[in-house]
Amino acid sequence: MRRKLAAGNWKMNGLKGQLAELDKLAAAHPSPEVDVLLCPPATLLAAAALQSPFSIGAQDCHANDAGAHTGDISAQMIKDAGGKAVIVGHSERREDHDEHSDIVRAKARAAQAAGLTAIVCMGESLLEREAQNTLDIIGGQLAGSIPDNATAENLVVAYEPIWAIGTGLVPSLAQIGEVHAFIRARLERRFGAGVGLGVRILYGGSVKPDNARDIFAVPNVDGALVGGASLKAADFSPIISALEAS
Ligand code: PGA
Repeated sequence: MRRKLAAGNWKMNGLKGQLAELDKLAAAHPSPEVDVLLCPPATLLAAAALQSPFSIGAQDCHANDAGAHTGDISAQMIKDAGGKAVIVGHSERREDHDEHSDIVRAKARAAQAAGLTAIVCMGESLLEREAQNTLDIIGGQLAGSIPDNATAENLVVAYEPIWAIGTGLVPSLAQIGEVHAFIRARLERRFGAGVGLGVRILYGGSVKPDNARDIFAVPNVDGALVGGASLKAADFSPIISALEAS
């Protein structure tokens, strides 16, 4: 059985005061029946890992362990700061920083080598969806972004349609189900049933308290990667509860 995962991505939001939301969340969920992971900005990572009973992760890492890469942080540094996971290949990184799947794969490999879980994101644009290219795009991103040494512990896949991120638009449940089933089948084909059935597949893109329950009922949706609604405990808490009830 795959353990469900509610992951929050704070993106470039949060000063020190934001850490109070972690306390509120912990008070609301003293012993959650699902895994809970929060990915604050790098500036809050170490403090969050000290303070929070939940797992803490980062939003990106460099593919190298160390070196002359001003402004970057490595997977080893994330691990050293108390992180357990790192998001790689988020569409905002792919777009803002021109990160292609080969870079994403190298980052995921670095994360896994450091003992972190790599949360590898992928998703189609609206143009690609309208041209009915979604599964081709996802297939390409899966093949290109995921390292060969994936295990059920060191890999999580996040399906995040670009047009659904931060927009309030959500694919139909049938569309989500189609992509998640496709990802599951590709993982099984590449890694065999053991790993393929064990890797968790998250849905991300405008997950909110009022749509979480329906999304979590879709087969092969093992949780969510939540942006805006993870910033406030009052919003993220009902999403965690919906996942626990699913
Ligand atoms: P959103 O972001 O929940 O604000 O749409 C999701 C994400 O980008 O991970």
